[in-house]
Amino acid sequence: MTIEEARTRVKELTELLERYNYEYYVLNQSSVSDAEFDRLMNELKLIEADFPGLKSKNSPTQRVGGAVQSEFKKIPHKRLMLSLGNVYNEDEVRAWDKRIRDLLGQDEVTYSGELKIDGLGMSLIYDRGEFQYAVTRGDGEVGEDVSANVITINSIPMHVKETRPFEVRGEVFMPNASLEALNEKRMQTGEPLFANARNAAAGSIRNLDSSVAASRKLDAYWYYLVNAREIGHTIHSESLDFLDEQGFKTNHERKVLYGVEDLLAYIDECTAKRETLGYDIDGIVFKVNDITLYDKLGYTAKEPRWAIAYKFPPTEVTTRLVDIFLTIGRTGRVTPNAVLEPVRVAGSMVQRATLNNEDFIAEKDLRIGDVIGLHKAADVIPEVTGPIVSARTGDEVPFIMPDNCPICGNPLTKVKGLHYCLNKDCESRKIESIIHFASRNAMDIDGMGEKVVEVLFGEGFIHDIPDIYRLQDHASDIKRLDGWSDKSINSLLDAIEESKKQSLERLLFGLGIKEVGEKMGKVLAKRYKNLEDFYNLSEEELLKIPDVGPVAAHCVYEFFHDEKKLNELTLLKLNGVNFEYLGTDTVDVNSYFYGKTIVLTGTLVKYSRDEMTEILEGIGAKCAGSVSKKTDIVIAGPGAGSKLTKAEALGIEIMDEETALSHLARLNG
Ligand code: IVH
Repeated sequence: MTIEEARTRVKELTELLERYNYEYYVLNQSSVSDAEFDRLMNELKLIEADFPGLKSKNSPTQRVGGAVQSEFKKIPHKRLMLSLGNVYNEDEVRAWDKRIRDLLGQDEVTYSGELKIDGLGMSLIYDRGEFQYAVTRGDGEVGEDVSANVITINSIPMHVKETRPFEVRGEVFMPNASLEALNEKRMQTGEPLFANARNAAAGSIRNLDSSVAASRKLDAYWYYLVNAREIGHTIHSESLDFLDEQGFKTNHERKVLYGVEDLLAYIDECTAKRETLGYDIDGIVFKVNDITLYDKLGYTAKEPRWAIAYKFPPTEVTTRLVDIFLTIGRTGRVTPNAVLEPVRVAGSMVQRATLNNEDFIAEKDLRIGDVIGLHKAADVIPEVTGPIVSARTGDEVPFIMPDNCPICGNPLTKVKGLHYCLNKDCESRKIESIIHFASRNAMDIDGMGEKVVEVLFGEGFIHDIPDIYRLQDHASDIKRLDGWSDKSINSLLDAIEESKKQSLERLLFGLGIKEVGEKMGKVLAKRYKNLEDFYNLSEEELLKIPDVGPVAAHCVYEFFHDEKKLNELTLLKLNGVNFEYLGTDTVDVNSYFYGKTIVLTGTLVKYSRDEMTEILEGIGAKCAGSVSKKTDIVIAGPGAGSKLTKAEALGIEIMDEETALSHLARLNG
C-alpha cells in the first residue's frame, strides 16, 4: 500500500466509522453489525500502525482511551461559563416571565423549554470542521482541558460540516443504566459505590487515565451554541437544530413555548416523565428563544437574565431506620448516624444519614426499627424528617446515648447539647485529624481520603500527622496489602511529596487548630508568613490581628504552647514540609486601610466593587455592605446615595476612589 492509498483508505474508514458511531450513539439505530464495525476499526488500526503520520488525534482509534496524564491543563474560557438563577414554583415562574416581558416591553415572549440535565457542564471547541478541545466549567472563568476523556464519549462528533470556529456547551452525564452496571461491578470488587450519576460522571471526567472514562459509558447533551450569531442564528431553538445537523446530540424533549401558560404546562409534562427518562434531571431550563434580545436583557454577576432554571421540589420517601451508630470527629464531637435500608431518593441511593445529635433524635422521637421519612433537596444532604408513627409495631427501640466513647471507652462529656470524647488519643479523633490534614482544602494530598487513611492507620503505618511524611519507609509493606500496587503507592507518595510545598495557610488549616478554619488560616498566614513566628506570639499580639477574636487568639496560643504539638511541628519541618506563606497578597500593618471597616458605594471606575473588596480584604481591611457606627471609611464613587448621606450624618471618613487608590499605591510603592 502506498502512502497515498493509505491516506485515501484512512479517510474512508474514518468517515464510515464516524457514521456508524453517529447512527448508533446519537440516533440509537445501527445499520452495521458489531463484527463489521470491529473489522473496520482493526483495519484502520493496522494502517495507522504502518503509517504513524496518518494517525490523527481525533481518529476513531483514539476514542477507546489509554492516554494517562499527570495533570489537566488549565484553559480560560473565551466567554464566561455562567450558572443559572433558580425558581421553585408557579408564582416564581410567573414573576420571571413578567420581568422578561417588562424588560422587553412585549405582551408575550417565546421561550425554549429544555430539561436540566444533572451532570457536568462542558464546553467543546471546533474549528475547520474538526473537534479541537473540551474544557470543564471550572470556576466559570478557567476550566480544565479534559479532551482525552471527552473524546471517549462516542456520541460526540469529531468531524462536522461547519468549518467556521464555534463553541458548544452542554452536559456530560452518566445514564442510569451505566451507573447501575458500574455500581454492581464495584460492589463485587468491594470498591465504594457512587452515590449518584453526577458524582460518577464527574469522577470519570476528572480521572487522569482516559481508559477509565472510556469504560464508564458516559453520554452528553448539547444545549447552547455560544457564538450562534456568528454562525448566522438568531433563534436559540434553531441553533439547536443546527447542532443536530452537525451530528451533536441535543435533547429532544426540548420544545418551543409561547408565553407563561406554556411554561407551566411544560413543567407538568416533564415532571410526569421524569422517572422514565433513563437519566437524572434536576429541573427544567427556560431560555428566551430570540437570541437578538440577549444583549438587551443582559446579565447579573453570575447569571444571564434571559434564562432561568426551574428546580423540582425535594422528594420525600420512606425507609427503615435499621440502626444508629456513633462517629467521633477530629474535635471529639460525637455524631449519631442512621443506618437505613437503602432507598433511592432524588436520583441517588441513600443508606446513611446524619442524625446530628442526641436532641435531634429525642425531638423527633426516632426509634430503631421505625419506618421514617427521608427527604433530599437537589444537591443537599439527605435528611431524616421523622418517624411514621402509624407504622409502629411496638418492637421499636428508643435510642440511648452511651456514657462512653464507642472507640476508646473514655467517658463522653456533654457541652451545650453536644457530646464530646475529650480523649486526645482517641483513635477516631486521630484518624479524622489525619483525614482533615490531607483533605482537598488543607494539604490536598490526592489519594489520601477516608478509606486509605483508615487502612494505613489500622495497619499501623501512620499514627499521627508527621507519620504521613515517613510513609515511604513502609512502601514495600503497603504494597502487600489488598488492592495496592506499585502504581498506586507511588502516586500516593508523589502526592505526599508534592504536599510539602503547600503554602502556610493550608498548613495552618490542616493542623486542625481549634477555631482556625480556612479563612482564619489565610488571615494568620498573611500576617505572620512563617509558622515558627507563631511560637512566640502572646495572646495580646494575636488579638491585634483584625478578625481574630479572644477565643481564636486563645486557641492559637494554646496550640503553639502544647509540647506535643510543637514536637509534631518539628518533625514536619525535619521532613521538609514548607512553613512559609507563598501567596502574593500580604498585609502591611502600616497600610492606611489595615484593620479598618470599609463600605464601598456608588460607581468605581478603575476596579469594580467586587475587585476593590478583594484588594482591600487582601491587605487586611474588612468590607461591609452597610454603613453603621462601626464603619471607619466610606469610599464613594459617582451616584452614591443613602449610604453616603448616612456616613456624613455619622461623621465617618469619606474618600473618593482616587484617594483610595493613592493610599493603595503608597502601599505598593
Ligand atoms: S443553559 C448561559 N441549559 O445547569 C446558559 N444549562 O444551573 C447556561 N444545565 O451550568 C446554561 N441542562 O451545567 C443550560 N438545558 C440546559 C441545561 C443546563 C443542564 C446545567 C449547566 C449549567 C447549570 C446551571
